[in-house]
Amino acid sequence: MTISAARRVLGNSGIEVSPVGLGCMGLTHASGDAMPTHEAARVIREAFEAGYTFFDTAECYAGEDAEGNELYNEVAVGEALRPVRDQVVIATKFGVQHNPDKTLRMDSRPETIRASVEGSLRRLGIDYIDLYYQHRIDPNVEPEEVAGVMADLIREGKIRAWGISEATEDYLRRAHAVCPVAAVQNRYSMLARWHEPLFPVLEELNVALVAFSPMANGFLTGAYSPTTQFEGVQDFRDGMPQYTEQGYEKDRAVLDLIGGLAREKGATMAQISLAWMLCKKPWIIPIPGSRKPERLRENFGAARVELTTNEVARIDAALDSMDLAVFGGHGAK
Ligand SMILES: NC(=O)c1ccc[n+]([C@@H]2O[C@H](COP(=O)([O-])OP(=O)(O)OC[C@H]3O[C@@H](n4cnc5c(N)ncnc54)[C@H](OP(=O)(O)O)[C@@H]3O)[C@@H](O)[C@H]2O)c1
Repeated sequence: MTISAARRVLGNSGIEVSPVGLGCMGLTHASGDAMPTHEAARVIREAFEAGYTFFDTAECYAGEDAEGNELYNEVAVGEALRPVRDQVVIATKFGVQHNPDKTLRMDSRPETIRASVEGSLRRLGIDYIDLYYQHRIDPNVEPEEVAGVMADLIREGKIRAWGISEATEDYLRRAHAVCPVAAVQNRYSMLARWHEPLFPVLEELNVALVAFSPMANGFLTGAYSPTTQFEGVQDFRDGMPQYTEQGYEKDRAVLDLIGGLAREKGATMAQISLAWMLCKKPWIIPIPGSRKPERLRENFGAARVELTTNEVARIDAALDSMDLAVFGGHGAK
């Protein structure tokens, strides 16, 4: 048995998206020096032409050019997609700012959200956002209060649906009771499976899982090693465990597993890492990122790779037996 990867729906919102979405963050933030807006917009437009209809950005995905001017991801997304606005689903996020030391500052007070939504609409140059995520839980604001603001924004036509990034079960249930949550965006990849216990809750509430960093920040493509020199000073990958000598040694068993499957299926390693989650549940939508048009076409092709439920289960069992190092969690599972 296989799960069709033809199209996906954002949970109870009914909004349809391509099975693989484009994570736009790395074009201007955390994956090398920010690309100039027109260049980033060209990459995004090529993704649309390759079949992507789901695009992920955030108000805080910004970098700087050589003169220290901010380059906003949302501006590039808007420039690329405004001409095809009615054919695409644009997701953006509020509630997080980056401190200079790369730590995050959370703020989901209603007045901050109100200012954020106006800022995002202005930078994107559009009059509604399809999917608006709370980027991180703010410990000082109750989920009911955030959900209440989302309900107001939906009523006002500023957003169509909302989601939560790095949601926990308790927070999701409380928020969902006030205003239905369409999608949760959590870190999920073969190296990062600790949110799997949330799956029955997502199924019960009809909430989609949008998987961020689905290739473990590129690691699962097999294109990187501890000797890789990341480009520019604005790359966050240098310190990630999977890219250190020690972490890489631990995690290379996953690369061997994916490499074998890739040969068997006539696919690339990137495609296998995405097909594994696409074929696991019909409501998982990975959003890999790339600056390179040939890679984003390759990643989109993951939706054509078929893994049976037995094959997915065998991969899970193999991953369960591994002791993995990964960024962003408390262990691989
Ligand atoms: N909600 C959150 O808190 C959160 C956090 C992180 C990310 N995200 C979202 O998730 C998206 C994706 O996450 P991510 O960029 O962290 O990780 P990712 O998609 O797992 O990996 C992206 C990296 O892999 C490389 N890559 C992509 N395709 C490749 C291929 N076919 N072969 C070899 N290398 C390839 C890219 O480099 P090149 O550009 O050089 O190809 C890029 O550096 C982001 O864009 C963002 O939208 C959300």
